[in-house]
Amino acid sequence: MKRTIRDLADLEGKVVLLREDFNVPLDDAGKILDTTRIVNAIPTIQYLSDKKAKVVILSHLGRPKGYEIRKSLWPVAMFLTKKLKCNVTFSNSVLGPEVEERISMMDNGDVLLLENVRFYEGETTCDMKFAKELASLGKIFVNDAFGVAHRQNASNYGVARLLPNAIGLLMEKEINELSQVMESPKKPFVAVIGGAKVDTKVKILNKFIDKADVIIIGGAMAYTFLQAKGKGIGASIVYPESLDIAREIMFNAKENGKKLLLPIDHVCARARDKKQKAITTDKIVEDMVGYDIGPKTIELFSKEIENAGQIFWNGPMGMYENAKFRKGTAKIAQAIANSKAYSVVGGGDSVAAVNLLNLGSKMNYISTGGGATLKFLENGSLPAIEVIQEKIL
Ligand code: 3PG
Repeated sequence: MKRTIRDLADLEGKVVLLREDFNVPLDDAGKILDTTRIVNAIPTIQYLSDKKAKVVILSHLGRPKGYEIRKSLWPVAMFLTKKLKCNVTFSNSVLGPEVEERISMMDNGDVLLLENVRFYEGETTCDMKFAKELASLGKIFVNDAFGVAHRQNASNYGVARLLPNAIGLLMEKEINELSQVMESPKKPFVAVIGGAKVDTKVKILNKFIDKADVIIIGGAMAYTFLQAKGKGIGASIVYPESLDIAREIMFNAKENGKKLLLPIDHVCARARDKKQKAITTDKIVEDMVGYDIGPKTIELFSKEIENAGQIFWNGPMGMYENAKFRKGTAKIAQAIANSKAYSVVGGGDSVAAVNLLNLGSKMNYISTGGGATLKFLENGSLPAIEVIQEKIL
């Protein structure tokens, strides 16, 4: 069990370096489009501030190449000033005189957010020289950034190797909730997997064949499975390099006596038709592209969801960002929300869909991770968690 911030004594007056994942979507004017990750980080920040630590926060935003004003964390600092019951300031740099001066001016309980760590080359390469410079800013390191814990970066992995450390409250919650998904699932356990690419989900699908009772596959990736079964899929998206993988996954499911469900009807549009008139069909023909699951599939999937004891959902059922192809994802989200099963949602797109449909409060747990959530379920831990000290019992 990892040491948490509750295990840290005497925080008063100490500079705590806190890694959060504030990688949030921003519009062109810098408005935050989804504040979920920031809101979920607040209990840790407030806890450290209430214990009178000087809280210096590190985060990344996007994948900038050098400095990019549109990837500045400034809007996040503005949001934090409104949400926290303490003094919040922002530094335009991560290292150097500005940061040092701002830290020296902090009172106990103050919060300082530093600019995007990915503006520095050494972050993603986990350059230990850069990590050492970051570590020199504080006395203790706290990692609360679950969403990026599958990456070994300087500010979440390198720094942890150099300072006494612990995990934050959000990280603790993610670990507890997601461990339970795989370790003690309530039966029947139904895994609903969508999205586009099969190759990024091979490991997790095989893991679900091991742990779940029913595996539901929707979204664009379903067409690779359907083609692998020899079904006509028209001009739908297929990843030819993943056809063998899809065959192997279906074979594994059969061998292990697990139910693997694929769409039985579709909402399609002609590939070259710019107006994209949606047609519902059992058989996809010629130049038609499947963009969503059809009504019979919704019924088939919903029945399994209704009878589930636990559900894990990752990935939309179709191109939900286009209203014409949203029904499948919306109905499946609604079925999960209505079911009595313990429901866990993980992955950026499915969480965005849940928020878009206002169903967040109906889910038992919504993970703040995308890739990190799947990697955690695959491996039971993540590199930036592993590096944290164990709790002394
Ligand atoms: C995410 O949004 O999944 C995390 O913040 C990690 O971001 P990355 O994929 O750019 O490393």
